[in-house]
Amino acid sequence: MADLFDKYDKPAPRYTSYPTVPYWDNAPTTPEWTDSLNRAFEDPKSPWSLYVHIPFCESLCSYCACNTTITRKHDRYETPYVDCVLSEWESYKKAVPALVSRPLKNIHLGGGTPTFLTPDNLGRMLNGILSTVQIDKDDFEGSIEVHPNYTTEAHLKLLREFGFNRISIGVQDFNLKVQKLVNRIQPFDTTRTTLQTARDLGFVSANFDLIYGLPGQGQAEMTHTMDKTLELWPDRIALYSLAIVPWIKPAQRHFKDEDLPEAKEKRALYDYAKTRLLDAGYVEIGMDHFALPKDDLLRAMNETRLHRNFMGYTDQKTDVLLGLGVSSISASPDCFHQNQKILTLYETQAQEGKIPTMRGHKLSEQDIIVQGQILELMTRFKITFSDKKKEKTVRERLKPMIEDGLVYFEEDTLKITETGKSFLRVVCTALDERLISAKPQSLTFSKAI
Ligand SMILES: C[S@@+](CC[C@H](N)C(=O)[O-])C[C@H]1O[C@@H](n2cnc3c(N)ncnc32)[C@H](O)[C@@H]1O
Repeated sequence: MADLFDKYDKPAPRYTSYPTVPYWDNAPTTPEWTDSLNRAFEDPKSPWSLYVHIPFCESLCSYCACNTTITRKHDRYETPYVDCVLSEWESYKKAVPALVSRPLKNIHLGGGTPTFLTPDNLGRMLNGILSTVQIDKDDFEGSIEVHPNYTTEAHLKLLREFGFNRISIGVQDFNLKVQKLVNRIQPFDTTRTTLQTARDLGFVSANFDLIYGLPGQGQAEMTHTMDKTLELWPDRIALYSLAIVPWIKPAQRHFKDEDLPEAKEKRALYDYAKTRLLDAGYVEIGMDHFALPKDDLLRAMNETRLHRNFMGYTDQKTDVLLGLGVSSISASPDCFHQNQKILTLYETQAQEGKIPTMRGHKLSEQDIIVQGQILELMTRFKITFSDKKKEKTVRERLKPMIEDGLVYFEEDTLKITETGKSFLRVVCTALDERLISAKPQSLTFSKAI
């Protein structure tokens, strides 16, 4: 097994989109983008999902690879940012009038720390958007990423009033030693209180984000983190591999290399955590995710309805995902679109009443085919090829992984073995025509394992 990690622990995309962002090379203009949304909404029943990015955090967690603005200046940032998001929403309503009449199935608030906003500002933002749309009352999911240190009962109450029913709690690791090394001191009791308050208020599902491979994490630390996690029984657990991308996130240079577990040790931490979760009754969902048997995600997996988008695995597939806020990514059936990533640029363009386009990609026919194949592999751990030529090519590309017992073919179906599941990202690279035809020239992706 150790040799397999040496062989396959290479940089690989996480495939939350295809083509992956570095390969977007055919940007839509803003009108082309909104036309694509209008086409997607021709059917009055077509549902959609909404993502709003709130980038602010009061302090910098040094492992973090997300788009954040670190500040304590609530006065400077909160009100103008909410105004910008609402102004962006106004621009969308003008350009894509169907947004207000098609059923909204899902809203997700991500960050940063969405509860950096006071309940008043959060309420103003949510009201400004949600009071103007048709919420699919029979099947609506509202979810938010929270950092327990900055989440109050008032925040959670307000979110429940707007129909939020899922919460994702950032934990990462329960050991003080690790927490100090990553500049995120988060007492167990604070996490427990946030979870309990959410449950008491009627949130139906709580997720914990955990990370393996953090500085200072060894076997003893992972044992403690799993003991504490299993004391609280979150409904879902995302167990992420620490993505080390210091060329994008210079704060990650604050770790000393000697504090990081070595590749084999890092993988042993994952295997240990996975065993603990499976023994406790959790079920593995796709890549890096676990859920209790009663959870909707598991039902979706069993009914082959599991889907994956920019936010990871979900049981709610919609053709349109609209992203508001700085750096947010949106998707339609034939386009991707990303907002300006620099806060001042985003604010200026949103205030001017523009859709703050930074980049995007119009999917080619081949992109759409490969997108479907990668999605199938990521959500079902297998894929059936209808195209004989592609099947033959993929067989050839995967020859070493077939010989190593990580994947196998049953007639025209490629399947992943139990051991192979750890290498899912690497298997997907065999389908990724863009990566194969042009390897990135510079550091782009984090390592696969
Ligand atoms: C956008 S973050 C923010 C959530 C919330 N603000 C918090 O801090 O708890 C969402 C999740 O991404 C994951 N994450 C961030 N940086 C990561 C990295 N470098 N490698 C792996 N996972 C990462 C963390 O598990 C985190 O909880």
